[in-house]
Amino acid sequence: MAERTTTPEREQWTGQYGFILAAIGSAVGLGNIWRFPGVAYENGGGAFLVPYLVALLTAGIPILLLDYSLGHRFRGSAPAVFRRLGKGFEPLGWFQVGISFVIATYYTVIVVWAIRYIGFSVDLAWGEDPAAFFTGDFLQYSGAGLSTDFVGGIFWPMLVLWLVVLAVLALGVQRGLERANKIFMPLLVVLFTIMVVRALFLEGASDGLTAFFTPNWEALLDANVWIAAYSQIFFSLSIAFGIMITYSSYLKRRSNVAPTGYVVAFANSSFELLAGIGVFATLGFMAAQQGIAIGDMRLTGPMLSFATFPQIVSMMPGGPIFGILFFTSLTLAGFTSLISILQVVSAAFQEKFGLSRVQVSLLIGGVAAVISLALYSSTSGLAVLDVVDKYTNEVGVVVSAIATCVIVTLGARKLPELRAHLNAVSTGHVGRWWSVLVGAIVPIALTIMLLSSLRALFSEPYEDYPLAFLTIAGWGTLGLLVVAALVYTLIPWRRPVDDFTPEPLSASQEVRR
Ligand code: ALA
Repeated sequence: MAERTTTPEREQWTGQYGFILAAIGSAVGLGNIWRFPGVAYENGGGAFLVPYLVALLTAGIPILLLDYSLGHRFRGSAPAVFRRLGKGFEPLGWFQVGISFVIATYYTVIVVWAIRYIGFSVDLAWGEDPAAFFTGDFLQYSGAGLSTDFVGGIFWPMLVLWLVVLAVLALGVQRGLERANKIFMPLLVVLFTIMVVRALFLEGASDGLTAFFTPNWEALLDANVWIAAYSQIFFSLSIAFGIMITYSSYLKRRSNVAPTGYVVAFANSSFELLAGIGVFATLGFMAAQQGIAIGDMRLTGPMLSFATFPQIVSMMPGGPIFGILFFTSLTLAGFTSLISILQVVSAAFQEKFGLSRVQVSLLIGGVAAVISLALYSSTSGLAVLDVVDKYTNEVGVVVSAIATCVIVTLGARKLPELRAHLNAVSTGHVGRWWSVLVGAIVPIALTIMLLSSLRALFSEPYEDYPLAFLTIAGWGTLGLLVVAALVYTLIPWRRPVDDFTPEPLSASQEVRR
């Protein structure tokens, strides 16, 4: 039997404020600024807000509370928490670690694009045709495939970003993660608010806002709009892929857990709506300048932030400052989320293999950095990113959310205990509604959506990419995640994991007094 190391004392946030800031830092990320406005635009603009809010209330907040209660009660990385629910459930923890690993590898490259675009904003380096600049001069995009031609202008900044991120992780929860959030989050709020206020005063802004806030009820009949809303909520709130389990495991026992969740969810969605308002106001300006309707613009995926936005920046007075504000916000938001995503991986490897933070940063972080650089700094990076993002979020994260609900409710039968835990440590009462949602409605609704998503993915190739490419980059990634989850489960733990007994609920109740 492998020799076991003893458990070092668990790291902790300095207090509730540090945790809230870090949790908001994790939630508010590229998902809010880069992904949300584009997804909202593609899914009917204003129509998207209704499914988005429904998804937030019916699945976002309930699963956020579920992640919090799991992490706070069973105090470990995702694999440790699921193993403590029952030995057979450990693979789900590793599946979540795998999802975080995959997301981190492509998240880094988008942060690098944002960093480079801060510089490009200064002299409007994208010239007359920002779309051609983005895919041509900048990414040197060669189409779907796995190219080994690396783009120096992405590779080197990406290498530096990886070194910085891994250094923050190596510094630990208080000196690394919490400190980074305490510096970056206030700065983000100030810069982003200035940008949005400026956007509101642009000519045509009100038309943009009308497009954003006018519901198109017909779009609500489209299942894809609902799928997009739910996967946006999962990505945006950082739920169902281990982040909030890991982060809440560093909370002191004396923590008011449930209200913290409401604060984080409210802050995240407020920021998301703010981003929507800022981006649509800016689109309204462009529509007015070009005499076209907002609905007629063709904006998909990263093109909104990295082609349309630069185009608008070039048109407006004081454009460079606007561009710098936008891309700096994107960078700051992305950075604080990236460290949370990688902390899922770091915590799991520290606990399973008895490694120190520095060892994990060097070993696992090094592997992640190499994979990330190999896949995304090459000329085919854009296509790989698009497919991996789609399959990981619309299939991987949704499967993980369903499995978590089913395991907690039926497998381990811990739902009543988790609700009692939330109620023991929190002010305010988490009612039966939570158990009904987590125990029945969320998994059923998500399963229906997953089936519809799978049918769409099987019936026509996503974005007309070649089938072989989709099979390798999309299904291949998901398959690897499943295999890795099983393999890591078979490896023995180097730190004690099973001799853990959660605190009696009466003691948790003491905590609140
Ligand atoms: N929650 C993070 C984001 O929105 C992952 O980007």
